[in-house]
Amino acid sequence: MTDRKQLIIDNSGEEPLSNFSDNRTFASVLAARMERRALLKGGIGAAMAGFFGASLVACSSDGKSDRDPKDSSPVPSAPLMGFSAIATGVADAIRVPEGYTAKAFIPWGTPICGSYPEYRADGTNSGEDQEQQIGMHHDGMHFFPIDVRQGGNSSDEGLLVLNHEYIDEAYIHAQYPEKDADGKRPADEVRKEIAAHGVSVVHIRKNTEGEWEVVHGSPYNRRITGATPMELRGPVRGSDLVKTKYSPDGTEVRGTINNCANGFTPWGTYLAAEENWAGYFVNKGAQPREHSRYGVPSNNGRYSWELADSEADEYIRFDATAKGASATEDYRNEPNAFGWMVEIDPFAPESKPQKRTALGRFGHEGVVFGKVEEGKPIVCYSGDDARFEYIYKYVSKEPYYKSTAGGHLLNDGTLYVARFNEDGTGEWLELTYGKNGLDESNGFYSQADVLVNTRTAADLLGPTKMDRPEWGAVHPETGEVYFTLTNNTRRTEADAANPRVNNAYGHIIRWREDGEQAATTFKWDIYLLAGPAGTETKSLEGETLATLTDDNKFNSPDGLWIDPRGLMWIQTDTGGTEEFGNDQMLAADPVTREVRRFLTGPVRCEVTGITATPDLKTMFINIQHPGEGRPGSSDWPDGGGARPRSATVIITKDDGGVIGT
Ligand code: FEO
Ligand code: CA
Ligand code: CA
Ligand code: CA
Repeated sequence: MTDRKQLIIDNSGEEPLSNFSDNRTFASVLAARMERRALLKGGIGAAMAGFFGASLVACSSDGKSDRDPKDSSPVPSAPLMGFSAIATGVADAIRVPEGYTAKAFIPWGTPICGSYPEYRADGTNSGEDQEQQIGMHHDGMHFFPIDVRQGGNSSDEGLLVLNHEYIDEAYIHAQYPEKDADGKRPADEVRKEIAAHGVSVVHIRKNTEGEWEVVHGSPYNRRITGATPMELRGPVRGSDLVKTKYSPDGTEVRGTINNCANGFTPWGTYLAAEENWAGYFVNKGAQPREHSRYGVPSNNGRYSWELADSEADEYIRFDATAKGASATEDYRNEPNAFGWMVEIDPFAPESKPQKRTALGRFGHEGVVFGKVEEGKPIVCYSGDDARFEYIYKYVSKEPYYKSTAGGHLLNDGTLYVARFNEDGTGEWLELTYGKNGLDESNGFYSQADVLVNTRTAADLLGPTKMDRPEWGAVHPETGEVYFTLTNNTRRTEADAANPRVNNAYGHIIRWREDGEQAATTFKWDIYLLAGPAGTETKSLEGETLATLTDDNKFNSPDGLWIDPRGLMWIQTDTGGTEEFGNDQMLAADPVTREVRRFLTGPVRCEVTGITATPDLKTMFINIQHPGEGRPGSSDWPDGGGARPRSATVIITKDDGGVIGT
């Protein structure tokens, strides 16, 4: 690929920006849109005209092209995709297009720190071992070039940071866990399960043969688990709602759990989302709204961690039933310290992770940042993945300056929740104490109260109930935001933004802010409906925009990323079906809606997590829970009848080129 310029690091210091000479410029993106617009024969609604109109405004101020922005003729440009679509897959293997290679890397149990305890294929590793090994159920992930803090963009060495969402009880221990006669669980099994959750920071490097390997002994290698001490930051820090026996002043908590998707900041840190955390706790008493609105169980926790036979404080804390005379004598508030976005500095191995409470408390799927501009607030978006929940936006109070940017920008700002109007317009509704009825008259007493009860506060403002918001992605040039809505078979009433009742397949929505990224209004449309071949995506006016075929039919979009070239990657989470085969990853052109299947995963897995080196020549994705729930159905990646293991997959092009070309 000598005819291509190297990717360069953007001024924001973190995300590599494309500088490909033959890349499609924003002007050509615009031209393609305008071409399509010219093809529309009347009847285009005001909303969609506004949507496309916004492109025009943005383009004319872009200055990247000497082309007359009024010139609507097509611009010749390099195609975003250069591979042939592959068929759906049912094999217990990774399949990629011809000319590409996919290889498993750092599966569950790989030793990465401490005494580097070897993985035992019979499940007999201890809790202490697991604390030094890669966790289970790989999910969101980001590659940080090793020299990114010095302004570099190494594609040969870096820190790979990845989430471990949950565990598979059928595979984690020597035998499926059972409670003893007293209903208790062996404490070391609980320790191991807690340690299999959380985040791994892995220092990786290409060896002389060009193969990626873990840098043994690196001080950066680190496991963050469901037990690692962390701090609460932002408006909820010190609130009565988070005071516990462990942290009587409400400033600290142990661990992060159910870390689904991720985010990464413009200042080079990682964000792990806490998604389905509520089920890990139990409250057998009268539940306050900060438990009941999130689904804290009343019988037992998901894995019964509260029943560890040692009855150690670190385990019984998962029982949030009020037992003491006050909150500082029990763990009634323990669940309130979960449901946040957690910031981790991978380059500071001794640093305490920080829970950023200003971003709200819900089932955070992940977080994605809008375009970053010097002197403007930072903006990020996060979906609440549950049926009929919402999409949120955070805008920092202080502006972003590269020289001073840091986690403080996530401590003080404004949280909004989205309303998608039927006409293609939308509004961001402000979740601030004292505004929009979020005051004593409706049972809110402080911003901490609003944030701990983000869902209840949002309910009051009338946002749009979505079909399970999963990952978001922001187009690096246009700032357009795309979100996957994975499915919602309980929907009985369609609306424009969630247009199908009994939505079994899901869809992808997108919007463009009216003006700056921090704007409080936007225009939206449906980018694509998922489903079987023949599924049509139509505009609000009824025009057919895309029709799925056997080359790109998919179900339940979840992971989403737009790479620096502007190619969008879609990952699915169904666990495999007859119609769609095993879960898969597709590439999509945001402008033309062309979609091609790029990868299919092993049996009963989910394909999730995606990142790449700055040169886009190594892509990392994750395969989560192969063989889930059915021992014997998969032995990926080890083969030979071994128990299946979640793993990262390294994808390269055999000619050394850019992934997707
Ligand atoms: Fe953990 Fe919403 O996927
Ligand atoms: Ca997910
Ligand atoms: Ca999912
Ligand atoms: Ca999963």
